Amino acid sequence: MVGEKKITVFKVGEIEVKLVKDRKIYMPSVATRLIAENLHDLDGLRVLDLGTGSGVLAILASKLGAESVVATDISERAIRIARRNAELNGVEINFRIGDLFDPVRDELFDLIICNPPMTPSLTQLHRFTWGGVDGRLILDRVIDGAPNHLRRGGRLLLPVVSLVGIGRTFRALLERGLSPRVLDYRVHPFGKTLYRSLNHLKSLPDSDYVYDHLGRICWRLVLFEAIKT
Ligand SMILES: C[S@@+](CC[C@H](N)C(=O)[O-])C[C@H]1O[C@@H](n2cnc3c(N)ncnc32)[C@H](O)[C@@H]1O
Repeated sequence: MVGEKKITVFKVGEIEVKLVKDRKIYMPSVATRLIAENLHDLDGLRVLDLGTGSGVLAILASKLGAESVVATDISERAIRIARRNAELNGVEINFRIGDLFDPVRDELFDLIICNPPMTPSLTQLHRFTWGGVDGRLILDRVIDGAPNHLRRGGRLLLPVVSLVGIGRTFRALLERGLSPRVLDYRVHPFGKTLYRSLNHLKSLPDSDYVYDHLGRICWRLVLFEAIKT
C-alpha cells in the first residue's frame, strides 16, 4: 500500500513493475503488454513514451537499460501517478504534461513508444480510450509527428487495433517515409462497449474484426515497428 492506494505488479519476463492502482487513469491492457513483451535491447537508447498513463512502459524501458526516458501525457493525474510509480520502482524518468509532441518540440529519439487511445465511438468515451468517431484521431497525429522526432535509424513502436484499419495504418506509415513491419499480434474478444457499437463499427470502411474458435467476435491488435531510414 502507498497511502490509501493498493499496489499491483506488472511482470514481463523477469522484470517487475510496481504500479499504484488508480481507476481514473489507464491501467495496463492487452496493448500495453504487447508492447512490453517486444521491448528489447534498449541499452543506451533515448526513449520517448507518448501518452504514458501509469508510466508502466517508461519504467520498463528504464529498467531495460534505456539511457534516458521522456514520458508525456495530456492528463495531469496520469503524470502525477506515473511519477509516483517511477519513485516506487526506483527509476528516473523525465515526465512532461502536454499534447502529444508539444512537450518535446525539437527533440530527437532512438525509440518512440505509443499506445494511443483508439476506441472508435460516436459518443465521447474517457480520454484514455476514445479515438474519435473512427478511432484514428490521436493515432494519425502520432504517425504524422513521429518522423520529426526520430533520429535516422530510430523506431516507432505502435500497436494498432483492426477496428481502425491495419492496412490504412501501414500505408500512412509508408507515406510519412517510415519503413513499417509487423512485430507481433494478438486476437481478443469484444468487451461490452464494442458490442454496443457494432453497427457503428460496421459503418467504418477500414474497420474489421474476426471470430475466434468459440464464435466470439474479436478485434486483432497488430504491433508495428516503423523505422526512419
Ligand atoms: C491507451 S492509454 C496508454 C497508457 C500507457 N501507455 C499504457 O500502454 O498502458 C493512452 C494515454 O494517452 C493519453 N492521451 C490521450 N490523448 C493524449 C494527447 N493528445 N496527448 C498526450 N497524451 C494523450 C491518455 O491520457 C492515456 O494516458
